[in-house]
Amino acid sequence: MTEQHVQKSIVVLVSGNGSNLQAIIDEIAEKRINAKIVAVIANQETAYGLTRAENAGIPAIYIDHKNFASREEYDKQLADSIDEFNPNLIVLAGFMRILTPAFVERYQGRMLNIHPSLLPKYKGLHTHQRAIDANDKEHGASVHFVTPELDGGPVVLQSKVPVFEQQDVQELAQRVQQQERQMYPLVIKWFCEDRLKMINNRAVLDNQILADEGYAIE
Ligand code: GAR
Repeated sequence: MTEQHVQKSIVVLVSGNGSNLQAIIDEIAEKRINAKIVAVIANQETAYGLTRAENAGIPAIYIDHKNFASREEYDKQLADSIDEFNPNLIVLAGFMRILTPAFVERYQGRMLNIHPSLLPKYKGLHTHQRAIDANDKEHGASVHFVTPELDGGPVVLQSKVPVFEQQDVQELAQRVQQQERQMYPLVIKWFCEDRLKMINNRAVLDNQILADEGYAIE
């Protein structure tokens, strides 16, 4: 793309290691994505993603859910913290909290998530083990827009990996996560170039409505 776009600002939410966050930080540093991560927010004090943010000079914020009486109150604080940075895009990168409908609706069309399964299969947790238990021949990850239905928003991109005989769950998770670190920055790049939108609950890339399984890379 030769066209110039206004630089987008991104807030990333994490709960753990932050390897997806790191992939996005690296792609921005390499100038392959025209964006700035303006804050990283975690719901876990020990989330290594916070350290990754600090190392990259990005404001790192921890919001402890124990200080809030309800999910609604937590999400209100989370939204207030996000809105201080006025971001164009909110990226969930291993953020392991269920979000309230009010929160999700506030950011509809500008919040992305990565989920470690070929959605609509295996919403929720333990996705790698569930794929093995079901004798699936392939597994993978999906990037999707976030809507109030948990892991149910329109898929933008999926990446597949084979599931082998006697598959070890850790090894499968590693191969899926390797794919995640490739695919998430690509989708974020599309969004930041104004090529990707959510319209009428569908993902739209370059004015084309994407299929249920998202954009197909063959
Ligand atoms: C990733 O595998 C992501 O798909 C998953 O958490 C991991 C976070 O890794 N997310 C979910 O399960 C969300 N439901 P990271 O912290 O190293 O990016």
